[in-house]
Parts: sequence; C-alpha cells; structure tokens
Amino acid sequence: MTSAPDGVATSLDGRQFRFRTPVETPFVPGGFVTLRDGGAAGGAAEAREQLGQVDDLDFDGDDTLAGTGKLLGERRADGSLDTGATHPFAWAAVDAADDEAVELVFRAARATLDVGSLIGVDNVRARLLTHRFNRHTFWCGQSGSGKTYALGVLLEQLLVDTELPMVIFDPNGDFVRLRELRTVVDTEAERTLAGKDIRVLRPGDSENPLLARFIDFPMRSKAAVLRLDPIEDRAEYNALVHLDVREEARRPDGIVPALLASGDPAAEALARRIENLRLIDWEVWAEGREAVTDILDDRPDATVLDLGGFAYPDEHLVVALAVLDDLWAKRESRRPLLIVIDEAHNLCSPDDDRPLQRAVRERIIQIAAEGRKFGLWLLLSTQRPSKVHPNIVSQCDNLALMRMSSPLDLEELGTIFGFAPPSLLAHAPSFRQGEALLAGGFAPAPMLVKVRDRLTEEGGADVRVPLRNPAG
Ligand SMILES: Nc1ncnc2c1ncn2[C@@H]1O[C@H](COP(=O)(O)OP(=O)(O)O)[C@@H](O)[C@H]1O
Ligand SMILES: [Mg+2]
Repeated sequence: MTSAPDGVATSLDGRQFRFRTPVETPFVPGGFVTLRDGGAAGGAAEAREQLGQVDDLDFDGDDTLAGTGKLLGERRADGSLDTGATHPFAWAAVDAADDEAVELVFRAARATLDVGSLIGVDNVRARLLTHRFNRHTFWCGQSGSGKTYALGVLLEQLLVDTELPMVIFDPNGDFVRLRELRTVVDTEAERTLAGKDIRVLRPGDSENPLLARFIDFPMRSKAAVLRLDPIEDRAEYNALVHLDVREEARRPDGIVPALLASGDPAAEALARRIENLRLIDWEVWAEGREAVTDILDDRPDATVLDLGGFAYPDEHLVVALAVLDDLWAKRESRRPLLIVIDEAHNLCSPDDDRPLQRAVRERIIQIAAEGRKFGLWLLLSTQRPSKVHPNIVSQCDNLALMRMSSPLDLEELGTIFGFAPPSLLAHAPSFRQGEALLAGGFAPAPMLVKVRDRLTEEGGADVRVPLRNPAG
C-alpha cells in the first residue's frame, strides 16, 4: 500500500462496484482488478482485499474513466480466493490485478481445461471448468472465424483431461484426422491423446464405414425417411407398419420384391416410393454390418462421423437420426456423452420442415430440453444464433463467441445469453481469427481468449498450392 492506487471504488451491495480512475490506467472491460478497503465496519479494521472484474467503463470528463464491475471474491491471507465472500465497502483502492491475482480466479473455480491464453494477460492460461460440460454449449462465429479449429482444440483438451466420451457430427471432414498428432509424441498431453480410442467412420470406407440400420428405427423415423405422413399417406403408412414385422424387411434389396409380390395396392405404392427415393441405393444401410449405433454403444473416447461423403443428400440425416434416436431410447442408462455438432444448422435449422429434417431437429430439441439429466450434453457450432432452432439455443448455458460483425446477431446473443457482458460482446466484430469470448457456466468469469494451437492435424484445411522442391 505504498504507491497511490490506480483508482477508487465503492460497492453498496457487495456484488457490483463502481469505480473512477485516471484515463491512463490500464483498465479494460473484462479486466481483473483488486479492491482494497479498510475491512469490516466496526471491526478491528484489518485491511481486506477483494478481486473484481470490470464490466464496462467510459470517459467521465477529460481525464477520468468511470466504470462498473462485479466482485469475484475475497483474497484470503493464505493466498486463496474465497468466491463465497464478497463485501460492500464505502471506499476501496482499486488496481489492475497482477498475474498472480488473475491466476487465483482460475484456481478458485478449479478451471483446468487449458484452451489458450487470456488476451491482455500475458502469463495466465485461459482455462475452463471441465465439470461444466454437463451443460449444453453454443459455439458461434462467422465463417472463417476459427470455430472448427477452436472446437478441435477444445475436444483435444477434453480428451486429454477427462474420460468424457464424445461423438462428433462432422459435415466437412474437419475432424477425420483427430487421431494424428502433429508432432512426435513428446508431452504428457500428447501421450494421453495417443492412447485414446478414437474411431473415424466414413461413408464407403472399407474398414470403418458409416452405417445405420433401418430396421432399428422407430416407426416415426422410418416414416420420416420415407416421407410418409400417417394420415395423409395412411394406406402406405399402414403397409409400412405391417412390413415392419417381416423378415425380408431386414435387407433393403428384399423389401421391394416382397412388397410387389404382396398383391396389396398400398404395398405396391410403398415399393414404388422406395424405388423413387432410390433408398435401396443408399450407401448408409448397414444390412448385416456393424452400424454406428453399435460402435457408440461401446463408448469409444471419440467417434468422428464424417457426414460429408455421402452420394445422396439425405443420408447424413439418416445417420444423425439413427444416433440421436438410439441415444434417446437408451437415455435411462445415463451414460454421459458429449454430442458435438459442427455446422449445427445442417441438423437443426428452424426453417427446414421436410420430414427427415424435422425428425432430426425434434430429437435435438428434446435432448436440449431434457437430455442434461441423462448425460446427453450438446456442443453446437454455427454461424449465427438464428440459424439454429431457438428452443435449442435457449437451453445452452455455455457460450463461445468468435468473430461476428452483425450487430443484430450480437444483440440477439446478448438477449439470450444474459451472462455475457455487453461490453465484451462488443469486441466480437474486431476479433482476429482464433479469438473468442468464453462465458457462462464453463468459464470462471467471462473472458477474452486467444485459442491455443491444435495438437492433432486438421482434416478439411485448405488445399495448399504445391511448391517446387528446394533445389538441392
Ligand atoms: N487459432 C488458429 N490458429 C491457426 N489457424 C487457424 C486458427 N483458427 C482457424 N485457423 C485456420 O483458418 C481457417 C478457417 O478456420 P475454421 O476453424 O475452419 O473457421 P470456421 O469453422 O469458423 O469457418 C482454417 O484453415 C484453419 O486452419
Ligand atoms: Mg467450420
């Protein structure tokens, strides 16, 4: 307490504080501060130190800044931070927190998942609370902002730090190299990652094909695949109900002849429908082979589903429906699983009302609303909040926001995610690639982060221009 403080603060309620500082002090929105006051009123007047975070600040006259912030806890004599104890004070000296004090915020929250560096704080790693991935997470940012790369970083760290299994819906083959380390195995983290059971399922792959089993689908989902409405198409729907129990239906190429041979006009109509949709030609059907649901039942550490390589436009939806239906049907087993959906608008857009799209979306809405208690946790990435159904976005408790320049989208995010301070959301238009605002349950405090480097190879990275070999 020898040098003059950066500024002065007051807190009436022991939760928020107001402060004033000269303009030249290094205070920024989201920055951490220490607040020293005289201690409990009427007590022995022992000096007390609390930590706080600046919410916002603005000019207050020519050479003064005025702002507000939140108190985070009291710094104990033993050097720990007691987040349960925040106190009002009439006057406190406020200073920008040093690295050691910022570190306390992470330590007190038991935040261990290292996702990068804190912007503006050189020596403190930005860490998330692994145990808060038992909530849904919304990952948002415009195209090219670095969402997929950052998701890769996050998933690697979850693989290293936890036993939480994950399934990754990968529309562009971005995660198909999640098993391949970029460097020779060297660090403890890399050793752990190298030992993980990571499966990559791809359409048409001879060893690890991505397959679904029609016969396992609930009736509703079968009808969605066939674009059948139980009322409008009642005759065909009914033929499907009866087909369901027959042995031939187990093999797609057995279905059409069996239906045609039945002599029933509705069954014939159903056969023609199947032919017209070219369902028999779809590569996705498992027939006797192992389906994606069988593999997920074993709960590998990570299962990457490469949804991009199918020949027919609905096959990736069949995979999604197979997985989500199966997880939901088995929800009572309460086996935790992180369900990662990159480009989530492909699977849960609010606008697409075709039967299969609707069936997939309804399942995701259901998991968003009720999946948490069964251990089904969503991690959804998309370009703007309005591209995913509102009943899904509103269920997310964790937010990652990368570069986003649309004021309307930012306003919408601010409304949905009240825990994200407007002063930090306002940074999103000027984020560089790889920079993010992380806020909500999984962050000890809202924070601006520069995402760290990937440990494993990216899959769908831009194709490079082949260069000439150096002369030699
Ligand atoms: N933090 C980062 N460090 C290095 N390269 C990155 C980083 N973030 C993104 N990139 C690169 O930028 C390109 C676009 O990033 P990507 O994650 O695919 O963006 P998005 O998913 O938001 O469209 C990719 O080629 C990726 O390799
Ligand atoms: Mg992407």
